[in-house]
Amino acid sequence: MWSPSPVTILGSFLFIYLYAITRKREDALSTIPEILTKHGYPSEVHHVTTPDGYILTLHRIPHGRNNTNSNKPVLVLQGILLSSRHFVFMGVEQSLGYILADEGYDVWLADVRGCYSSRNHTTLNPDKDPKFWYFSWDEMGTIDVPVLIDYILETTHQPNLYYVCYSQGSALFLIAMSTHPEYNAKVKVHVGLAPVAYLNHKKTHPFQIVAHWNVVFDTLLAIFGIDEFPPPIFTFMKRVTCRVSPDFCNYVFMVLFGYKASEVNSTVLKIFLEDFPIPVSRKHAVHVLQLIESGYFRRYDFGGDNIEVYGTSTPPSFNLSAITAKSHLLYSDEDDMVTDVEIDKLCEDLGDACAEKFLITEGTIRHLDWVIGTGVQELGYSKLLSVMANY
Ligand SMILES: *[C@@H]1O[C@H](CO)[C@@H](O)[C@H](O)[C@H]1NC(C)=O
Ligand SMILES: *[C@@H]1O[C@H](CO)[C@@H](O)[C@H](O)[C@H]1NC(C)=O
Ligand SMILES: *[C@@H]1O[C@H](CO)[C@@H](O)[C@H](O)[C@H]1NC(C)=O
Ligand SMILES: *[C@@H]1O[C@H](CO)[C@@H](O)[C@H](O)[C@H]1NC(C)=O
Repeated sequence: MWSPSPVTILGSFLFIYLYAITRKREDALSTIPEILTKHGYPSEVHHVTTPDGYILTLHRIPHGRNNTNSNKPVLVLQGILLSSRHFVFMGVEQSLGYILADEGYDVWLADVRGCYSSRNHTTLNPDKDPKFWYFSWDEMGTIDVPVLIDYILETTHQPNLYYVCYSQGSALFLIAMSTHPEYNAKVKVHVGLAPVAYLNHKKTHPFQIVAHWNVVFDTLLAIFGIDEFPPPIFTFMKRVTCRVSPDFCNYVFMVLFGYKASEVNSTVLKIFLEDFPIPVSRKHAVHVLQLIESGYFRRYDFGGDNIEVYGTSTPPSFNLSAITAKSHLLYSDEDDMVTDVEIDKLCEDLGDACAEKFLITEGTIRHLDWVIGTGVQELGYSKLLSVMANY
């Protein structure tokens, strides 16, 4: 039997490491202003600090290539494990950031606390202070979203804005509007692309299994002191694996997150896999797993401490009937994560605020195809633009 010597092993690791770090930087790894400038778009960077000290970054595309500043601001929020950069990382005909700007909107791409460009705080260091990571959807929705909305409205001197988002962005909208009903008047319309609130329909998805074991997941990560998930070591190993065996890596992500590799531009996919998944806080991940497991749309579950925190043994649900801003829910029949069951339930809970459920049956739009797919522009974004034009 061949047994590699330590030198061979060390040499192989060194080779893989050098290979991994010497690759050319592509769009995924350029900053948003660099990408925008390269494509001929104006860009601005804004920071706003939340009352609890998180420094959030907004990247603004004030106008498109052929138009000037409009008075139509739109707040654009990305899904979990993604960042605002994923709204501009494909070509100008494909990525939503450019499409909205060229259509005459004043585009504000934001990251919520802990995510990519908003991984900063006035006193806490995300690399050293576990306390930095002590947040879930609750804080993102109740604190970050209102802060972002106010900042944009103050800067643009507008009374209201469009709220456009993918997946998790809708959950944050619903949390913000149900806990601060006065913000409903500040939103012209919410258009959710594959909007997430309820998550428990597809019982066979691999995430369901992890969700079932969410307490174990949480405990294990806590034991290893992992507050940011996935941890940097995973990100490094993923990057190496994806470079050494793109097909394997692609297959795993395709099964987990839902897209159809044959319909995703391979250049785009390669860039995408460079920095996907963007890490989240352990508490954030656990909160989502709790919702998948329970089927409720409710606050973080502290287990035995719920009584102390909420005064009840189970976490309170978000009160969706307090929402009055109109929602248009766009989704597709090939999406495993957001299905009829979840959308019907959400729309019913929203009552009059649910303006439309729009199901796309053409093409193959799986969950992540809203971000990286090639068919979504014609089938999904065009619908989004026509909804926005009506408000
Ligand atoms: C901008 O205007 C130029 C010249 O009129 C035209 O060729 C180009 O297609 C326009 N681009 C967009 C994105 O509308
Ligand atoms: C794939 O995307 C790249 C970068 O956006 C683009 O240059 C290329 O033309 C695309 N290929 C196809 C087949 O669409
Ligand atoms: C975090 O914010 C501080 C204070 O605004 C700033 O000086 C620093 O450059 C920021 N760090 C990062 C990584 O953005
Ligand atoms: C939910 O909000 C509605 C509308 O504001 C209100 O009438 C109702 O009492 C609320 N329900 C709960 C449980 O807070």
